[in-house]
Amino acid sequence: MNALDRRLCVAPMMDWTDRHCRYFHRLFTPHALLYTEMIVAAALVRGDADRLLAFDRAEHPVALQLGGCDPVELAAAARIGAAAGYAEINLNVGCPSDRVKNGSFGACLMLRPALVAECVARMRDAVSIPVTVKCRIGIDSRDDYEFFASFVDTVAAAGPAALIVHARAAILGGLSPKENREIPPLRHDYVHRLKRERPELCLVLNGGLGDVASVAARVAGLDGVMLGRAAYHRPRLLAELERALIDPAAVPPDAEEVLAAMVVYARRERHKGVRLHSITRHMHGLVVAQDGARAWRRFLSEIAIRPDAEPETLNAALPILRLPRAA
Ligand SMILES: Cc1cc2nc3c(=O)[nH]c(=O)nc-3n(C[C@H](O)[C@H](O)[C@H](O)COP(=O)(O)O)c2cc1C
Repeated sequence: MNALDRRLCVAPMMDWTDRHCRYFHRLFTPHALLYTEMIVAAALVRGDADRLLAFDRAEHPVALQLGGCDPVELAAAARIGAAAGYAEINLNVGCPSDRVKNGSFGACLMLRPALVAECVARMRDAVSIPVTVKCRIGIDSRDDYEFFASFVDTVAAAGPAALIVHARAAILGGLSPKENREIPPLRHDYVHRLKRERPELCLVLNGGLGDVASVAARVAGLDGVMLGRAAYHRPRLLAELERALIDPAAVPPDAEEVLAAMVVYARRERHKGVRLHSITRHMHGLVVAQDGARAWRRFLSEIAIRPDAEPETLNAALPILRLPRAA
């Protein structure tokens, strides 16, 4: 059940970690566990599951994140996800947006640990792949360690394969989702303390991790780390972490190799009617802190964005990628 390698995970991010983004990320890290954007269970059960769940085999291993609070519906959605070939089903207990709050799921489930446990139990009954939970440490004024530990104890009794903790509370009144990823203080110490007190739990730390040194310092004693924004904005970080955490012999791909692989991918997707921009919008971070970074971004936003842009158009950017690194 727990056989997935969770040492390095890329966070679920709505509108960002779609299948094109995951394909791109996979080129930097052969082993990271990649997460989908949150998919609402009801949409999966009643909607176009094939479209919502499509992915390329090269993305594997990929975990499907579900949003919902109805144990029966979540179990049905988990079954659909497992049948589609996902490696894990994850329940979102951390999203603070109004849309999610109105549906009574996401972060507000931090106040309903027994319901979360029931959801986990039903999903576990429905599938043979691991079921995990991504949560916060607390909600609104309930951000004390005792609240967090008590939430985890109730949920852990249902046997999730891992808990991924975005180590800050969610504030439901007054903060936007973006502010909710920045303003409530990070409490990585809560996750470390929990692991010391309950070593049998598989715990993955998330929130504010942005470079190899800070990851190496904070992963010690835990089962893994999950990175969101830093990985999206600078995907090369994933290659650095692959080497630091998983395989010291891993050779990071250079930008030209990544571009060549993405041209091949984009050509394949073109046949399915996918516009180049749907793919390249995730590739801004390919060139960072190099002389060419600005030119690369301009290339993507002026040339690759054109509706008739062909995948081969990307080759015109090779001279930009070859510009020397800034000192
Ligand atoms: C654009 C964006 C969308 C997000 N969407 C989701 C989501 O669908 N499900 C979820 O659990 N978390 C979502 N998050 C939160 C991230 O998964 C992660 O917990 C958060 O960004 C903190 O990690 P970081 O500091 O490494 O970015 C999102 C974050 C961003 C930036």
